[in-house]
Amino acid sequence: MSQHAADADSIELTFTVNGVVVSVTAPPQERLSNILREHLGLKGTKIGCDAGDCGACTVLLEGTPVCACMVPGGRLDGREVITIEGLAANTAVGEPLQRSFLAHGAAQCGICTPGMLVTAAALLTTTPQPSTADVEDALGGVLCRCTGYRKIVAAVQSAGDQRAPAAAPGGAVGQRQARIDGWAKLTGDDQFGDDAAPADALTLKVVRSPYHHARFEFGAVESYVRSKAGIALVLTAEDIPGDNVFGVIPTFRDQPVFAEAETRFMGEAVAAVIGEAHVMQDFDPREFPVTFTELPPLLDTEGAQTTGAETVHDTRSGNVLTEGFVERGDVEQALAQSAFVAEGEFSTGFVEHAYIEPESGYAVRRGDRLEVYGCTQAPHMDREELARIMALQPEDIRVLPSAVGGGFGSKLDLSFQPMLALAAWRLDRAVRVTYSRPESMRSTTKRHPSRIQARVGTDTEGHLTAMSFFGEFNTGAYASWGPTVANRVPVHASGPYRLKSYQARSRAVHTHSAPAGAFRGFGVPQSAIAQEVLFDELAARLGHDRLAFRIKNALVAGDQTVTGQTFNQGVGIRACLAALEAPWADALEAVAVFNADTTDQRRRGVGVASCWYGCGNTSLPNPSTIKLGLTPEGRVRLYQGAVDIGQGSNTVVAQICAQTLGLEIEHFDLISADTDSTPDAGKTSASRQTFVSGKAAMLSGTALKRAITSSAGLAASSSLRLDGDRVIVSDGHTNASIELAELPVNDDGLVFVAEETFDPPTTPLDENGQGEPYASFGYGAQVAVVEVDTKLGTVRVCSMTAAHDVGCAINPTLVEGQIEGGIAQGIGMALMESWTPGRTDNLHDYLIPTFGDVPDIDIRLIEDPDALGPYGAKGLGEHVLIPTAPAILNAIRHATGAVLRHLPATPERVLAAIRDAESVG
Ligand code: FES
Repeated sequence: MSQHAADADSIELTFTVNGVVVSVTAPPQERLSNILREHLGLKGTKIGCDAGDCGACTVLLEGTPVCACMVPGGRLDGREVITIEGLAANTAVGEPLQRSFLAHGAAQCGICTPGMLVTAAALLTTTPQPSTADVEDALGGVLCRCTGYRKIVAAVQSAGDQRAPAAAPGGAVGQRQARIDGWAKLTGDDQFGDDAAPADALTLKVVRSPYHHARFEFGAVESYVRSKAGIALVLTAEDIPGDNVFGVIPTFRDQPVFAEAETRFMGEAVAAVIGEAHVMQDFDPREFPVTFTELPPLLDTEGAQTTGAETVHDTRSGNVLTEGFVERGDVEQALAQSAFVAEGEFSTGFVEHAYIEPESGYAVRRGDRLEVYGCTQAPHMDREELARIMALQPEDIRVLPSAVGGGFGSKLDLSFQPMLALAAWRLDRAVRVTYSRPESMRSTTKRHPSRIQARVGTDTEGHLTAMSFFGEFNTGAYASWGPTVANRVPVHASGPYRLKSYQARSRAVHTHSAPAGAFRGFGVPQSAIAQEVLFDELAARLGHDRLAFRIKNALVAGDQTVTGQTFNQGVGIRACLAALEAPWADALEAVAVFNADTTDQRRRGVGVASCWYGCGNTSLPNPSTIKLGLTPEGRVRLYQGAVDIGQGSNTVVAQICAQTLGLEIEHFDLISADTDSTPDAGKTSASRQTFVSGKAAMLSGTALKRAITSSAGLAASSSLRLDGDRVIVSDGHTNASIELAELPVNDDGLVFVAEETFDPPTTPLDENGQGEPYASFGYGAQVAVVEVDTKLGTVRVCSMTAAHDVGCAINPTLVEGQIEGGIAQGIGMALMESWTPGRTDNLHDYLIPTFGDVPDIDIRLIEDPDALGPYGAKGLGEHVLIPTAPAILNAIRHATGAVLRHLPATPERVLAAIRDAESVG
């Protein structure tokens, strides 16, 4: 099964895997993870870091969980290994655990799930009824970036006693339907970017700049190739047949596939080397003939804007990529007339997406067509960009998204795809690539660092009067989603509050850093920190309760937003805040009791913050198309091109179709995203899939039902029932039976078909940023309770209560999963996450929340229906992260008086802020 040639030092290793004795010839130092995946084809064991940091590759060795990437093959002889593929057959707890994970929604993207399951199986074998602490201790070495861990804990605890909730049958809207693609995530069968390459695929490795900014020259590349047996091809910029440039926004395209003469960030690609897998396993980029000359870098926006500073791009004067602006009323006059004004400067750093699956995929040439398989959030956009780069027509390229092991925005941008496509095209061989963890963290997009100045005023009664905001965002070396951040932030910086006088400006500035791009919120989490922290200062000066202050100023239906837009229904922010009143009062009382012991160095505090977020693109077309059909066999086929990156679009879209057709989800077959077969459902970004693709699904379901009922000669309101290869149509009086097998089939093998598009209505913003940028907003608010150690500066989040207006919870389990996962990422942003190129390019030095960092989360779902959304549903994915960090900062201040304006709130910063507060107080 192995494609690997035996090295001179290879030995025969004989051990047991999942109850079967196997023999493998491999070097004794070869990692068990590699032996399982590449020699034995057991791809269920996932690799996230190859360094023992993430735990994704955990297997049982003699019954004990170990990171397979840290076990050398030489230690395997005669021993027993159990992987995810054998968990159910080889442990008594395996299958109950898998069922419990499915029922609880404990797997989102699923890349961490095999490691979680085998580790949990070891725990349950010795401790059948584990406490929460037992689970958190046992599973603490396995990282999850999607779930927020709470559903994993619940799934493990209830696996043994069958307390797992049963998945509701039918899958209609509002039911806790288990993921329709969920089981494969629990058995190791789901195929991610690195799991499906043909066995004889060549391997591609990338040569990257080691400097923030450099010039470079290639040396004797041909001699290098000749000197290395097994190398098939080297690619550089001059090999690109089309345009050596790509970007997510056509008017701002600026990023080369391979740099030409100059590199603008550490980790930028200059060349790719393609060769046989066993040769490329030992590839050392330092041997590649390229000479870099380091140049002075611009690493922050301040330096990049000083007079005389070099320009990162000649065409962008002052290193300004773009600016955004929204203005309403006379903000300076209104601030001058305000009774109270709070102001401050805030900053945040780079935040890394840290999905557990690094970028990975393979490409293959089929005649005059190219197939590119791998992890992506935007298959149709990838296809358009690849066509330009390859000088092919878009229809000559097929993009096949793999299962995506987390994306959160970064997998919207191209990364490995152009190199793979070109290599496969030139060599007419399958070519694969998987970025190493440092390579992934160094070369892909990040959350924009920000520097923000804001002022907010109120009258004597606590009504907001005016807000002035300026945000500068470090967009790195290339545009990526910088223009989107610059446009979205001024629209959102007010928060979901009434403000008659408002001015918000933003600027995206180039530096010699990794491109900053899309990351859950597009700059809004940064702006919300400034706004919500200043709101607490105003409430304190007014002597008002902080939650009541927000309720007083929150938008209601019929209010105008800061862009002059009016929503007459579905403005659920007051309902969210009102839902927090009781937990807020309880938390305040509880922390007062805790803090009564003044000898304790720990102080507790409570904080609150809100969010709103426009679903979809800002003032731009944003269509999704969904296709549905009925087969002669009586199966509903759903062509669902909205990439499911763990958030659950496969299931949500299917539930909407099931509800609209009145048919049970068990009758559905899913055709997942594939540019050859599924219509374009747009990007998985901007919290748009439930709202936009979900509405397209509802329209398609309605059209398909109309076609069927009309064929039966009955009204569109009639009900449908599938009975084998017949569909029974009934209007309550008359039943009509349609024999599906007797109907003509179309090219897709369907007897009925419908394909509908939804493009949410928006209008452009005028020169003052006035207009209707989004057809729908979602709303939310969160209360954080924290405990601060005033001597150590450490902060523990004790609990979170989250109220989110989702319009309609199509699937409450998936909604809860989004909220919990977003809060976990918000905790990371608030307290620990800070990416520094060249220093924190791994999951050891770059800290993300683990089990112990995410507390219990009390969720209150608000359903204030949206006028346009499917069954009233709104988007949710980005919203959930936005209030978390400001709620935590406000809680720290409540606990200690410490005002934190620069993130993350590390112990050093917290201690300094406590000292500042003490010196003032
Ligand atoms: Fe755990 Fe995605 S479900 S990393």
